[in-house]
Amino acid sequence: MRKILVAGNWKMNGSNAMAKELASAVANGFNSSSSVEMAVFPPFPYLNAVAEASAGTALQFGAQDVNENQAGAHTGETSAAMLVDLQCQMVLVGHSERRANYGDSDARVADKFAAALSAGLLPVLCIGESLEEREGGETEAVISRQLDAVLAKTGIDGFAKAVLAYEPVWAIGTGKTASPEQAQEIHAFIRDKLSALDGIIAGQLRILYGGSVKGSNAAELFAQTDIDGGLIGGASLTAEDFLAIYNAVA
Ligand code: PGA
Repeated sequence: MRKILVAGNWKMNGSNAMAKELASAVANGFNSSSSVEMAVFPPFPYLNAVAEASAGTALQFGAQDVNENQAGAHTGETSAAMLVDLQCQMVLVGHSERRANYGDSDARVADKFAAALSAGLLPVLCIGESLEEREGGETEAVISRQLDAVLAKTGIDGFAKAVLAYEPVWAIGTGKTASPEQAQEIHAFIRDKLSALDGIIAGQLRILYGGSVKGSNAAELFAQTDIDGGLIGGASLTAEDFLAIYNAVA
């Protein structure tokens, strides 16, 4: 039985004090023996604070982005090896905000995904369509294009040690959650597409849903056959809201 993964993307929010307090409240607020895993993605400067606050607990953590290069003249960037050095277990790649505003093309996201894998990090690959693309009937084509770029780089084997997050851009931070049926339809499409390449890898792959998930809608979303957890933005910024999602599904 796959474990549900509830992952909190703090985005560019918080402070050192908040990071310590929030990570420790989350780490101490859930039962590690349950069927739910918990992870948080703080801003880079607070990774160390989260590492300390979560030491000896089951709370996992990672960064919100990674550079695709190994080292060198990349001022302001952070390598996968540096994240491993800070004890990160995972990293988000291709979040829609990075795709839209920070130059993360499909090809660059694929390079980041591969860099994370080769450093031993679990990449959480974010994919999803905009409202315009959905209304234009392009959802499946967009998802396919985003997946194909990564498949071209790592092959289906790359997905054996990765997590996917389907995040329709129109549902992120808008309060407009995809309905459980709408989300399930795309999750099934993704799993079928990958199953055609390797049924075992696709069957074991965790596909999270992201976009306005909260305590009140998590249970029905995660009850869908192909939804294996959530990537949570706004509702991961207080321990109360984040643990409400855990409590709704644990
Ligand atoms: P949201 O963000 O939960 O605030 O919609 C999700 C995300 O961007 O990962």
